[in-house]
Amino acid sequence: MRVSRRLFVQASAAAGAVASPIAAKADMMMADGKSWPSIKAGNIKQLRPGKPVSFQYPDATSPAWLLKLEEPAYEGAGPGHDVVAFSGTCTHMGCPVAFKGGRFVCPCHYSMFDPAKNGVPYQGLASDYLPQIELRIDAASGDIYAERMSGLIWGRQSDAA
Ligand code: FES
Repeated sequence: MRVSRRLFVQASAAAGAVASPIAAKADMMMADGKSWPSIKAGNIKQLRPGKPVSFQYPDATSPAWLLKLEEPAYEGAGPGHDVVAFSGTCTHMGCPVAFKGGRFVCPCHYSMFDPAKNGVPYQGLASDYLPQIELRIDAASGDIYAERMSGLIWGRQSDAA
């Protein structure tokens, strides 16, 4: 059977329309099939530019940083798109990272990650992005919720502990 280009494009679009809600739903799940937890990370009123706040995500054994930058960030939350959160564990060999001079720095082998660019590593031995945590800000209270993470925390085989 010969398929016209128009029919092929229409069929492909229809298949994509059907597949994307499934993909979106799967994306809301951790690799083990559980839903991502929604955890209060802080409040917009407590954040000061360049002063990170620690919390844990997606579980109590996973250190993370909530941070207001001095510039808009990729995937940044809030009116200035400058509120971000990241795993606090270096993707090279699992040392704790700290925020210094506008970037996350690992003291073990001096990897540096850019929090305004999805945590991209740009110096040192780490080759993977620092996992970024998706945030939702409640407009009424200013509470900030961590709701999903991109990338695996170092040393894990799945998102769950
Ligand atoms: Fe962070 Fe090696 S553990 S750079």
